[in-house]
Amino acid sequence: MDAHLAWTPGGGRRELAKAVRAAIREGRWRPGAVVPSTRALAHDLGVARGTVTRVYADLAAEGYLHTSQGAPTRVATAGTEPLAAPGPAGRGERRWRWTMMPGRPDPGLFPRTAWLAATRRVLQHTANSSFDYGDPRGSVVLRNTLAAYLARSRGVRVDPARVVISSGYGQGLVAVCAALRQLGIAETAFEDPSVNRFHELAESAGQRVVGVPVDGDGLVVERLASPSVVVTAAHQSPTGVTLAPRRRTALVRTGAVIVEDDYDGEFRYDRHQVGALQALAPERVVYGGSASKTLSPSLRLGWLVLPRSLVDPVVAALTHTGGPPPTINQLALADLISSGGYDRHVRRCRTEYRSRRDRLVAALPPGLPPPGIPAGLHLLLSLSPATEAMVPAIARRHSLELATVSPHRFDPDGPSGIVIGYAASTRPAFGGALDALLAVLDDLPWDR
Ligand SMILES: Cc1ncc(COP(=O)(O)O)c(C=O)c1O
Repeated sequence: MDAHLAWTPGGGRRELAKAVRAAIREGRWRPGAVVPSTRALAHDLGVARGTVTRVYADLAAEGYLHTSQGAPTRVATAGTEPLAAPGPAGRGERRWRWTMMPGRPDPGLFPRTAWLAATRRVLQHTANSSFDYGDPRGSVVLRNTLAAYLARSRGVRVDPARVVISSGYGQGLVAVCAALRQLGIAETAFEDPSVNRFHELAESAGQRVVGVPVDGDGLVVERLASPSVVVTAAHQSPTGVTLAPRRRTALVRTGAVIVEDDYDGEFRYDRHQVGALQALAPERVVYGGSASKTLSPSLRLGWLVLPRSLVDPVVAALTHTGGPPPTINQLALADLISSGGYDRHVRRCRTEYRSRRDRLVAALPPGLPPPGIPAGLHLLLSLSPATEAMVPAIARRHSLELATVSPHRFDPDGPSGIVIGYAASTRPAFGGALDALLAVLDDLPWDR
């Protein structure tokens, strides 16, 4: 092993022991690693072998080293064992056999072959400059490719100079909130309910966060009083409704800065997708998207299309929060989109998720309220607050990972129920997850 020690010759035994302790504490001598033999270290440092032997013995007594008869001396591992690798199902230690978590795509559908081919093409052809620090706005190639893709697929009005790449939508939202704060906007409204992770991210960027109710037509725009607002207009998360056309117009007329979280716009099953709200007012709307639903959240690939006035402040804020994701992944995504592989993959996923949604809706008990439009990767099953409160314990009993609405709402009297994510399990596990869900529903009282 590399035995670098911050030690000055002539320092004596005590100094040598201090240097070895520091190397272990700072992780340069890693837990479990075999340490240099006393002979080799004594030779390297120009000290008597006996000095090293005594230092090792002292450090073994202190618990830094582990010695045992006939085996090499190692750095002790007590309390510093490597983290256990996740099982085949991923996400660390799995406590659940089945999952119906919203917000996650089927990890088994990740297009490994197409991604590998795209990465290989990128590595074969890209310039050496791709391995340097990248452009803080993200790769020009991906920004150009996304500009064309978003115009074609989502009707976004987009000039590549206004596209920036972020580490997922989450980092993009933080940067937008920080930039707005700098420009004097310190309150952001969110739909009530909406994903609480994003409320926390906005708060972390200095925004005061408030909720605005959602009804069957989406955000109740007349209740909006904040200078900025985040909306999931195409498919409200989690209620599943679409922002009605007259509300879209009313919203852009409020003059608020609108952040449009287009998190699952590619997944609409009954008819053509609702186009992006951004097209109505490109100078008022920040359009945000990500590859977290279409490909994988692990890629941390997200994008923003910004009003011109926000480009520089948002890029500055992105730089302060770590900058864009790895250039090679950005280029692989650009390659996948321009080769047609991305569209093919999204179509394949759309077919799969649509059939799961149909199976799920057909299996649900009759007489429930409509679960939102046929779109996205989740649906909301409304329940009374008292029934919702029983869900976590019952779901645990059936080893089903399941989300409820109440952690995501502002108004304690707002909607309640279960948010069923039908994409999260792998294809072979979907039947088991659905059975587990139906068993959970069966165990709930029927006054819901
Ligand atoms: C409403 C909503 N928006 C956006 C995202 C994507 O976030 P990110 O790109 O940070 O993974 C998610 C993912 O769960 C989501 O549920």
